[in-house]
Amino acid sequence: GDVLGGYNIPGGTFIGINSKAAQLGDVFGADVEAFRPERWLVDDVERVTLMRRDLELVFNYGSTKCLGMTVACMEMNKVVFEVRGR
Ligand code: HEM
Repeated sequence: GDVLGGYNIPGGTFIGINSKAAQLGDVFGADVEAFRPERWLVDDVERVTLMRRDLELVFNYGSTKCLGMTVACMEMNKVVFEVRGR
């Protein structure tokens, strides 16, 4: 068992992450539902760090975290540049 966010979780409890909900935190701003990549271009290291922390939850966390996260991020960064270059 463990205590998560003040809640006592008995051992053996299945814990899941709602990836969509995890991406809707206040840290992304009031227009969180809008596709606005510029939200990452802010001169605020603390905020970007918090956004990145929430974003990484799409790859899950802990012992079942995605093993391909680094590859996936590299591919996505490459695709954006390739598409913008055309
Ligand atoms: C945007 C792309 C991707 C997303 C959002 C993603 C997301 C995830 C998530 C949420 C899990 C955990 C599933 C679970 O808990 O049952 C997972 C597991 C895994 N992913 Fe990914 N993935 C992506 C791309 C990739 C790529 C490109 C690779 C390989 C190169 C990869 C390899 C794996 C593997 C091997 C696991 C199993 C890890 C384990 O349980 O030991 N993923 N992925």
